[in-house]
Amino acid sequence: MDTISEDFATAIDLNDLWTDPYPIYERLRRNAPVAFVPAANRYLVTRHADIVELERKPEIFSAHEANSLMIRVMGHTMIRKDGAAHKRERTACEPALRPGVVKNKWVPTFQAIVDELIDGFEKDGAADLFDRFAGPCASLSLIAMLGLKDVDQKDLRVWSQAMMDGTGNYADDPEVWRRSDEAAAGVDAALDVTIPHLQANPDESLISCMLHAADPLSREEIAANVKVIIGGGLNEPRDAIATGAYALLADDEQRRQVEADPSLWRKVFEETVRWVSPIGMYPRQTAVDTELAGVRLPAGSRIGVVLGAGNRDDSVFADPDRFDINRPKAPHIAFGGGPHFCLGAWAARAQVGEIALPTLFKRLRNLRLDENDPVRFGGWVFRGPLNLPVRWDV
Ligand code: HEM
Repeated sequence: MDTISEDFATAIDLNDLWTDPYPIYERLRRNAPVAFVPAANRYLVTRHADIVELERKPEIFSAHEANSLMIRVMGHTMIRKDGAAHKRERTACEPALRPGVVKNKWVPTFQAIVDELIDGFEKDGAADLFDRFAGPCASLSLIAMLGLKDVDQKDLRVWSQAMMDGTGNYADDPEVWRRSDEAAAGVDAALDVTIPHLQANPDESLISCMLHAADPLSREEIAANVKVIIGGGLNEPRDAIATGAYALLADDEQRRQVEADPSLWRKVFEETVRWVSPIGMYPRQTAVDTELAGVRLPAGSRIGVVLGAGNRDDSVFADPDRFDINRPKAPHIAFGGGPHFCLGAWAARAQVGEIALPTLFKRLRNLRLDENDPVRFGGWVFRGPLNLPVRWDV
Protein backbone atom coordinates (compact mmCIF):
# COMPACT_ATOMS: atom_id res chain seq x y z
CA MET A 1 0.00 0.00 0.00
CA ASP A 2 1.48 3.41 -0.95
CA THR A 3 1.46 6.34 1.49
CA ILE A 4 -1.55 8.04 -0.13
CA SER A 5 -3.62 4.83 0.14
CA GLU A 6 -2.46 4.31 3.72
CA ASP A 7 -3.49 7.87 4.60
CA PHE A 8 -6.86 7.29 2.93
CA ALA A 9 -7.50 4.08 4.91
CA THR A 10 -6.40 5.77 8.14
CA ALA A 11 -8.77 8.69 7.56
CA ILE A 12 -11.88 6.55 6.91
CA ASP A 13 -14.67 7.66 9.21
CA LEU A 14 -17.40 5.21 10.33
CA ASN A 15 -20.07 7.89 9.86
CA ASP A 16 -19.11 8.24 6.19
CA LEU A 17 -19.22 4.45 5.78
CA TRP A 18 -22.67 4.42 7.38
CA THR A 19 -24.01 7.17 5.10
CA ASP A 20 -22.63 5.93 1.77
CA PRO A 21 -19.87 3.30 1.82
CA TYR A 22 -19.69 2.71 -1.94
CA PRO A 23 -17.30 5.51 -3.05
CA ILE A 24 -14.99 4.51 -0.17
CA TYR A 25 -15.15 0.84 -1.19
CA GLU A 26 -14.37 1.76 -4.79
CA ARG A 27 -11.18 3.53 -3.72
CA LEU A 28 -10.16 0.73 -1.37
CA ARG A 29 -10.67 -1.95 -4.05
CA ARG A 30 -8.56 0.01 -6.50
CA ASN A 31 -5.71 1.12 -4.24
CA ALA A 32 -5.73 -0.87 -1.00
CA PRO A 33 -7.87 -4.03 -1.33
CA VAL A 34 -6.66 -5.36 2.03
CA ALA A 35 -6.25 -2.27 4.22
CA PHE A 36 -6.04 -1.75 7.95
CA VAL A 37 -8.79 0.74 8.80
CA PRO A 38 -8.23 2.04 12.34
CA ALA A 39 -11.83 3.25 12.77
CA ALA A 40 -13.08 -0.32 12.22
CA ASN A 41 -10.04 -1.80 14.01
CA ARG A 42 -9.76 -4.37 11.20
CA TYR A 43 -8.21 -5.12 7.86
CA LEU A 44 -11.04 -4.56 5.39
CA VAL A 45 -11.05 -6.99 2.43
CA THR A 46 -12.98 -5.36 -0.41
CA ARG A 47 -12.30 -7.25 -3.66
CA HIS A 48 -14.62 -10.07 -4.79
CA ALA A 49 -11.74 -12.44 -5.68
CA ASP A 50 -9.98 -11.97 -2.31
CA ILE A 51 -13.21 -12.63 -0.40
CA VAL A 52 -13.82 -15.82 -2.39
CA GLU A 53 -10.22 -16.88 -1.75
CA LEU A 54 -10.31 -16.31 2.01
CA GLU A 55 -13.58 -18.22 2.34
CA ARG A 56 -11.80 -21.22 0.74
CA LYS A 57 -9.35 -21.26 3.67
CA PRO A 58 -11.41 -21.42 6.88
CA GLU A 59 -8.49 -23.02 8.72
CA ILE A 60 -6.53 -19.77 8.15
CA PHE A 61 -9.39 -17.24 8.25
CA SER A 62 -11.15 -18.48 11.38
CA ALA A 63 -14.74 -17.60 12.30
CA HIS A 64 -13.74 -17.61 15.97
CA GLU A 65 -12.85 -14.10 17.07
CA ALA A 66 -11.07 -13.33 20.35
CA ASN A 67 -13.14 -11.04 22.62
CA SER A 68 -16.13 -11.38 20.28
CA LEU A 69 -18.98 -9.14 21.36
CA MET A 70 -21.38 -11.54 19.67
CA ILE A 71 -20.30 -14.25 22.12
CA ARG A 72 -20.74 -11.78 25.01
CA VAL A 73 -24.34 -11.06 23.91
CA MET A 74 -25.57 -14.40 22.60
CA GLY A 75 -23.25 -17.10 23.90
CA HIS A 76 -21.05 -19.16 21.58
CA THR A 77 -23.09 -19.63 18.39
CA MET A 78 -22.30 -21.78 15.33
CA ILE A 79 -21.40 -18.67 13.35
CA ARG A 80 -18.29 -18.12 15.55
CA LYS A 81 -17.15 -21.78 15.55
CA ASP A 82 -14.88 -23.69 13.17
CA GLY A 83 -14.45 -27.27 11.98
CA ALA A 84 -16.29 -30.19 13.64
CA ALA A 85 -17.84 -28.05 16.42
CA HIS A 86 -19.45 -25.79 13.81
CA LYS A 87 -20.53 -28.66 11.57
CA ARG A 88 -22.29 -30.48 14.40
CA GLU A 89 -24.54 -27.50 15.19
CA ARG A 90 -25.16 -26.60 11.54
CA THR A 91 -26.09 -30.21 10.74
CA ALA A 92 -28.71 -30.20 13.51
CA CYS A 93 -30.39 -27.10 12.01
CA GLU A 94 -30.17 -28.05 8.33
CA PRO A 95 -33.33 -30.16 7.92
CA ALA A 96 -35.58 -27.18 8.77
CA LEU A 97 -34.24 -25.06 5.90
CA ARG A 98 -33.72 -27.58 3.08
CA PRO A 99 -35.19 -26.57 -0.31
CA GLY A 100 -37.91 -29.27 -0.12
CA VAL A 101 -39.07 -28.14 3.34
CA VAL A 102 -38.98 -24.51 2.24
CA LYS A 103 -41.19 -25.38 -0.75
CA ASN A 104 -43.72 -27.56 1.03
CA LYS A 105 -43.85 -26.09 4.50
CA TRP A 106 -42.53 -22.51 4.54
CA VAL A 107 -43.80 -21.16 1.21
CA PRO A 108 -47.49 -21.66 2.17
CA THR A 109 -46.71 -20.20 5.62
CA PHE A 110 -45.04 -17.12 4.08
CA GLN A 111 -47.96 -16.64 1.68
CA ALA A 112 -50.50 -16.68 4.53
CA ILE A 113 -48.42 -14.17 6.52
CA VAL A 114 -48.03 -11.81 3.56
CA ASP A 115 -51.72 -11.96 2.62
CA GLU A 116 -52.84 -11.23 6.17
CA LEU A 117 -50.47 -8.29 6.50
CA ILE A 118 -51.67 -6.75 3.21
CA ASP A 119 -55.32 -7.37 4.21
CA GLY A 120 -54.58 -5.15 7.23
CA PHE A 121 -53.59 -2.02 5.27
CA GLU A 122 -54.86 -2.57 1.72
CA LYS A 123 -57.69 -0.04 2.13
CA ASP A 124 -55.40 2.75 3.42
CA GLY A 125 -53.92 3.84 0.06
CA ALA A 126 -50.63 4.88 1.71
CA ALA A 127 -48.17 3.38 4.19
CA ASP A 128 -44.56 3.18 5.22
CA LEU A 129 -43.98 -0.36 4.00
CA PHE A 130 -40.79 -0.67 6.02
CA ASP A 131 -42.74 -0.72 9.30
CA ARG A 132 -46.10 -1.95 8.08
CA PHE A 133 -44.89 -4.74 5.83
CA ALA A 134 -41.18 -5.60 5.51
CA GLY A 135 -40.42 -5.74 9.27
CA PRO A 136 -43.55 -7.65 10.38
CA CYS A 137 -43.30 -10.04 7.40
CA ALA A 138 -39.69 -10.95 8.26
CA SER A 139 -40.51 -11.26 11.96
CA LEU A 140 -43.61 -13.45 11.59
CA SER A 141 -41.82 -15.66 9.05
CA LEU A 142 -38.91 -16.15 11.43
CA ILE A 143 -41.18 -16.95 14.40
CA ALA A 144 -42.73 -19.70 12.25
CA MET A 145 -39.40 -21.11 11.02
CA LEU A 146 -37.90 -21.12 14.52
CA GLY A 147 -41.05 -22.66 16.03
CA LEU A 148 -41.25 -20.02 18.81
CA LYS A 149 -44.43 -20.10 20.89
CA ASP A 150 -46.27 -17.05 22.29
CA VAL A 151 -43.87 -14.46 20.86
CA ASP A 152 -45.15 -11.17 19.48
CA GLN A 153 -43.64 -10.09 16.15
CA LYS A 154 -42.94 -6.61 17.56
CA ASP A 155 -41.00 -8.08 20.51
CA LEU A 156 -38.92 -10.22 18.16
CA ARG A 157 -38.00 -7.11 16.15
CA VAL A 158 -36.98 -5.23 19.30
CA TRP A 159 -34.92 -8.21 20.55
CA SER A 160 -33.24 -8.63 17.18
CA GLN A 161 -32.20 -4.96 17.00
CA ALA A 162 -31.08 -4.83 20.64
CA MET A 163 -28.88 -7.94 20.29
CA MET A 164 -27.36 -6.71 17.04
CA ASP A 165 -26.63 -3.34 18.68
CA GLY A 166 -24.91 -5.28 21.48
CA THR A 167 -22.71 -7.18 19.01
CA GLY A 168 -21.52 -3.80 17.69
CA ASN A 169 -21.15 -2.10 21.10
CA TYR A 170 -17.41 -1.39 20.82
CA ALA A 171 -18.01 1.90 22.67
CA ASP A 172 -19.04 -0.20 25.72
CA ASP A 173 -22.20 1.88 26.22
CA PRO A 174 -23.92 0.51 29.38
CA GLU A 175 -27.40 1.34 28.05
CA VAL A 176 -26.74 -0.79 24.94
CA TRP A 177 -25.64 -3.69 27.19
CA ARG A 178 -28.76 -3.26 29.32
CA ARG A 179 -31.02 -3.52 26.28
CA SER A 180 -29.15 -6.45 24.73
CA ASP A 181 -29.16 -8.34 28.06
CA GLU A 182 -32.90 -7.68 28.35
CA ALA A 183 -33.44 -9.00 24.80
CA ALA A 184 -31.38 -12.13 25.48
CA ALA A 185 -33.46 -12.70 28.66
CA GLY A 186 -36.64 -12.33 26.57
CA VAL A 187 -35.44 -15.04 24.18
CA ASP A 188 -34.53 -17.31 27.11
CA ALA A 189 -38.01 -16.87 28.60
CA ALA A 190 -39.61 -17.69 25.21
CA LEU A 191 -37.49 -20.85 25.05
CA ASP A 192 -38.77 -21.92 28.49
CA VAL A 193 -42.22 -22.16 26.88
CA THR A 194 -41.16 -23.37 23.44
CA ILE A 195 -38.71 -26.16 24.29
CA PRO A 196 -41.07 -28.33 26.41
CA HIS A 197 -43.77 -27.93 23.75
CA LEU A 198 -41.50 -29.00 20.87
CA GLN A 199 -39.90 -31.71 22.98
CA ALA A 200 -43.35 -33.34 23.20
CA ASN A 201 -44.63 -32.27 19.75
CA PRO A 202 -41.82 -32.43 17.16
CA ASP A 203 -42.37 -30.52 13.93
CA GLU A 204 -40.29 -29.14 11.04
CA SER A 205 -39.16 -25.98 12.83
CA LEU A 206 -35.54 -25.06 13.56
CA ILE A 207 -35.80 -25.45 17.34
CA SER A 208 -37.52 -28.82 16.95
CA CYS A 209 -34.71 -29.96 14.62
CA MET A 210 -32.09 -28.84 17.16
CA LEU A 211 -33.89 -30.81 19.90
CA HIS A 212 -34.52 -33.99 17.94
CA ALA A 213 -31.31 -34.20 15.86
CA ALA A 214 -29.36 -37.48 15.86
CA ASP A 215 -26.85 -35.56 17.98
CA PRO A 216 -29.18 -33.13 19.79
CA LEU A 217 -28.03 -29.66 20.85
CA SER A 218 -27.92 -28.73 24.54
CA ARG A 219 -30.19 -26.05 25.97
CA GLU A 220 -27.20 -23.66 26.01
CA GLU A 221 -26.37 -24.37 22.36
CA ILE A 222 -30.01 -23.97 21.33
CA ALA A 223 -30.26 -20.62 23.15
CA ALA A 224 -27.11 -19.24 21.49
CA ASN A 225 -28.11 -20.38 18.00
CA VAL A 226 -31.69 -19.15 18.32
CA LYS A 227 -30.29 -15.75 19.33
CA VAL A 228 -27.96 -15.56 16.35
CA ILE A 229 -30.77 -16.61 14.00
CA ILE A 230 -33.02 -13.90 15.49
CA GLY A 231 -30.18 -11.42 15.00
CA GLY A 232 -29.33 -12.60 11.48
CA GLY A 233 -32.56 -13.96 10.01
CA LEU A 234 -34.86 -10.99 10.55
CA ASN A 235 -33.26 -7.71 9.44
CA GLU A 236 -31.80 -9.27 6.28
CA PRO A 237 -35.09 -10.42 4.67
CA ARG A 238 -36.70 -7.17 5.92
CA ASP A 239 -34.02 -5.11 4.20
CA ALA A 240 -34.12 -7.22 1.04
CA ILE A 241 -37.91 -6.75 0.77
CA ALA A 242 -37.61 -2.98 1.24
CA THR A 243 -34.60 -2.61 -1.09
CA GLY A 244 -36.13 -4.75 -3.85
CA ALA A 245 -39.46 -2.89 -3.70
CA TYR A 246 -37.65 0.47 -3.79
CA ALA A 247 -35.43 -0.56 -6.72
CA LEU A 248 -38.41 -1.53 -8.87
CA LEU A 249 -40.53 1.46 -7.84
CA ALA A 250 -37.66 3.72 -8.90
CA ASP A 251 -37.31 2.08 -12.34
CA ASP A 252 -40.46 1.89 -14.49
CA GLU A 253 -38.84 -0.07 -17.30
CA GLN A 254 -37.56 -2.95 -15.14
CA ARG A 255 -40.80 -2.98 -13.18
CA ARG A 256 -42.83 -3.37 -16.38
CA GLN A 257 -40.53 -6.20 -17.47
CA VAL A 258 -41.05 -8.12 -14.20
CA GLU A 259 -44.79 -7.55 -14.15
CA ALA A 260 -44.98 -8.93 -17.72
CA ASP A 261 -42.82 -11.95 -16.88
CA PRO A 262 -43.14 -13.11 -13.26
CA SER A 263 -40.30 -15.63 -13.73
CA LEU A 264 -38.03 -12.56 -13.41
CA TRP A 265 -38.80 -12.16 -9.68
CA ARG A 266 -35.99 -14.65 -9.05
CA LYS A 267 -33.54 -12.26 -10.73
CA VAL A 268 -35.00 -9.32 -8.81
CA PHE A 269 -34.10 -11.05 -5.55
CA GLU A 270 -30.53 -11.96 -6.56
CA GLU A 271 -29.85 -8.49 -7.99
CA THR A 272 -31.33 -6.83 -4.89
CA VAL A 273 -28.99 -8.58 -2.45
CA ARG A 274 -26.03 -7.96 -4.77
CA TRP A 275 -26.87 -4.26 -5.18
CA VAL A 276 -27.39 -3.52 -1.46
CA SER A 277 -26.12 -6.52 0.49
CA PRO A 278 -28.07 -6.72 3.77
CA ILE A 279 -25.00 -8.10 5.57
CA GLY A 280 -22.35 -5.67 4.38
CA MET A 281 -19.48 -6.93 6.53
CA TYR A 282 -18.72 -9.88 8.80
CA PRO A 283 -15.62 -10.67 10.85
CA ARG A 284 -12.89 -13.28 10.62
CA GLN A 285 -9.56 -13.64 12.44
CA THR A 286 -6.31 -15.11 11.08
CA ALA A 287 -5.33 -18.31 12.90
CA VAL A 288 -1.71 -18.23 11.59
CA ASP A 289 0.62 -15.77 9.85
CA THR A 290 -0.60 -15.44 6.28
CA GLU A 291 -0.82 -13.18 3.24
CA LEU A 292 -3.76 -11.91 1.20
CA ALA A 293 -3.45 -9.82 -1.97
CA GLY A 294 0.22 -9.33 -1.14
CA VAL A 295 -0.50 -7.94 2.35
CA ARG A 296 1.17 -9.72 5.28
CA LEU A 297 -1.34 -10.58 8.00
CA PRO A 298 0.14 -11.77 11.33
CA ALA A 299 -1.72 -14.48 13.29
CA GLY A 300 -4.57 -12.92 15.26
CA SER A 301 -5.30 -10.15 12.71
CA ARG A 302 -8.90 -8.99 12.78
CA ILE A 303 -10.47 -9.10 9.32
CA GLY A 304 -13.63 -7.46 7.96
CA VAL A 305 -15.03 -9.40 5.00
CA VAL A 306 -16.81 -6.61 3.13
CA LEU A 307 -19.51 -8.31 1.07
CA GLY A 308 -21.02 -4.91 0.26
CA ALA A 309 -17.78 -3.99 -1.52
CA GLY A 310 -17.17 -7.36 -3.22
CA ASN A 311 -20.68 -7.25 -4.64
CA ARG A 312 -19.89 -3.94 -6.36
CA ASP A 313 -16.52 -5.04 -7.77
CA ASP A 314 -16.45 -3.89 -11.40
CA SER A 315 -14.10 -6.72 -12.38
CA VAL A 316 -17.11 -9.04 -11.83
CA PHE A 317 -20.16 -6.78 -12.28
CA ALA A 318 -20.13 -4.16 -15.07
CA ASP A 319 -21.57 -0.79 -14.00
CA PRO A 320 -21.85 -2.19 -10.46
CA ASP A 321 -23.71 0.73 -8.85
CA ARG A 322 -26.69 0.21 -11.16
CA PHE A 323 -29.60 -2.07 -10.16
CA ASP A 324 -29.98 -4.19 -13.29
CA ILE A 325 -31.92 -7.44 -13.43
CA ASN A 326 -30.68 -7.97 -16.99
CA ARG A 327 -26.98 -8.02 -16.15
CA PRO A 328 -25.02 -11.11 -17.28
CA LYS A 329 -25.09 -13.87 -14.68
CA ALA A 330 -22.19 -13.59 -12.21
CA PRO A 331 -21.90 -15.03 -8.70
CA HIS A 332 -22.78 -12.50 -6.00
CA ILE A 333 -21.53 -13.16 -2.46
CA ALA A 334 -24.42 -11.74 -0.42
CA PHE A 335 -24.85 -15.08 1.39
CA GLY A 336 -21.15 -15.37 2.23
CA GLY A 337 -19.16 -18.45 1.24
CA GLY A 338 -17.36 -21.49 2.63
CA PRO A 339 -18.60 -23.49 5.62
CA HIS A 340 -20.73 -20.63 7.00
CA PHE A 341 -22.63 -20.00 3.74
CA CYS A 342 -26.07 -18.75 4.80
CA LEU A 343 -28.20 -21.62 6.03
CA GLY A 344 -31.35 -19.58 5.36
CA ALA A 345 -30.59 -18.78 1.70
CA TRP A 346 -33.41 -20.91 0.25
CA ALA A 347 -35.87 -19.62 2.82
CA ALA A 348 -34.84 -16.01 2.11
CA ARG A 349 -35.20 -16.48 -1.67
CA ALA A 350 -38.69 -17.90 -1.17
CA GLN A 351 -39.83 -15.41 1.43
CA VAL A 352 -38.65 -12.30 -0.41
CA GLY A 353 -38.40 -13.19 -4.11
CA GLU A 354 -41.20 -15.71 -4.48
CA ILE A 355 -43.83 -14.42 -2.05
CA ALA A 356 -43.41 -10.97 -0.42
CA LEU A 357 -42.39 -8.86 -3.44
CA PRO A 358 -44.61 -10.45 -6.12
CA THR A 359 -47.65 -10.39 -3.83
CA LEU A 360 -47.08 -6.74 -2.88
CA PHE A 361 -46.90 -5.59 -6.52
CA LYS A 362 -49.85 -7.76 -7.51
CA ARG A 363 -52.19 -6.66 -4.75
CA LEU A 364 -51.46 -2.92 -4.40
CA ARG A 365 -52.69 -1.23 -7.57
CA ASN A 366 -50.49 1.46 -9.13
CA LEU A 367 -48.01 1.16 -6.26
CA ARG A 368 -45.66 4.16 -6.30
CA LEU A 369 -43.11 5.98 -4.15
CA ASP A 370 -44.40 8.89 -2.08
CA GLU A 371 -42.79 11.89 -3.79
CA ASN A 372 -42.99 14.02 -0.64
CA ASP A 373 -41.05 11.63 1.55
CA PRO A 374 -37.84 10.22 0.00
CA VAL A 375 -36.47 6.80 0.83
CA ARG A 376 -33.24 6.92 2.89
CA PHE A 377 -30.61 4.19 3.19
CA GLY A 378 -28.10 3.69 6.00
CA GLY A 379 -25.47 1.31 7.37
CA TRP A 380 -22.38 -0.57 6.23
CA VAL A 381 -22.10 -3.62 8.58
CA PHE A 382 -25.81 -4.05 7.89
CA ARG A 383 -27.32 -1.88 5.16
CA GLY A 384 -30.80 -1.20 3.90
CA PRO A 385 -33.60 1.37 3.60
CA LEU A 386 -34.65 3.16 6.77
CA ASN A 387 -38.17 3.88 5.48
CA LEU A 388 -40.35 3.06 2.46
CA PRO A 389 -43.25 5.52 2.17
CA VAL A 390 -45.55 4.57 -0.73
CA ARG A 391 -49.02 5.23 -2.15
CA TRP A 392 -51.41 3.09 -4.20
CA ASP A 393 -54.94 3.33 -5.64
CA VAL A 394 -57.90 2.17 -3.55
C1 HEM B 1 -31.72 -11.87 2.47
C2 HEM B 1 -31.60 -12.57 3.57
C3 HEM B 1 -30.30 -13.08 4.16
C4 HEM B 1 -29.00 -12.73 3.89
C5 HEM B 1 -28.48 -11.69 2.88
C6 HEM B 1 -28.14 -13.55 4.74
C7 HEM B 1 -26.76 -13.51 4.75
C8 HEM B 1 -25.94 -14.35 5.50
C9 HEM B 1 -24.49 -14.31 5.50
C10 HEM B 1 -23.63 -13.33 4.71
C11 HEM B 1 -24.05 -15.28 6.34
C12 HEM B 1 -22.59 -15.63 6.66
C13 HEM B 1 -22.13 -14.91 7.92
C14 HEM B 1 -20.74 -15.29 8.36
O1 HEM B 1 -20.09 -16.12 7.71
O2 HEM B 1 -20.27 -14.74 9.39
C15 HEM B 1 -25.21 -15.94 6.89
C16 HEM B 1 -25.18 -17.00 7.77
C17 HEM B 1 -26.30 -17.57 8.33
N1 HEM B 1 -27.61 -17.28 8.04
FE1 HEM B 1 -28.26 -15.90 6.69
N2 HEM B 1 -28.95 -14.37 5.50
C18 HEM B 1 -30.26 -14.14 5.17
C19 HEM B 1 -31.37 -14.76 5.70
C20 HEM B 1 -31.34 -15.76 6.64
C21 HEM B 1 -32.51 -16.40 7.20
C22 HEM B 1 -33.96 -16.07 6.83
C23 HEM B 1 -32.06 -17.33 8.11
C24 HEM B 1 -32.84 -18.29 8.99
C25 HEM B 1 -34.07 -18.63 8.86
C26 HEM B 1 -30.61 -17.29 8.10
C27 HEM B 1 -29.79 -18.09 8.85
C28 HEM B 1 -28.41 -18.07 8.83
C29 HEM B 1 -27.59 -18.92 9.67
C30 HEM B 1 -28.07 -19.94 10.69
C31 HEM B 1 -26.25 -18.61 9.35
C32 HEM B 1 -24.99 -19.22 9.98
C33 HEM B 1 -24.56 -20.41 9.20
C34 HEM B 1 -23.28 -21.01 9.73
O3 HEM B 1 -22.59 -20.42 10.59
O4 HEM B 1 -22.97 -22.14 9.29
N3 HEM B 1 -30.22 -16.33 7.19
N4 HEM B 1 -26.36 -15.36 6.36
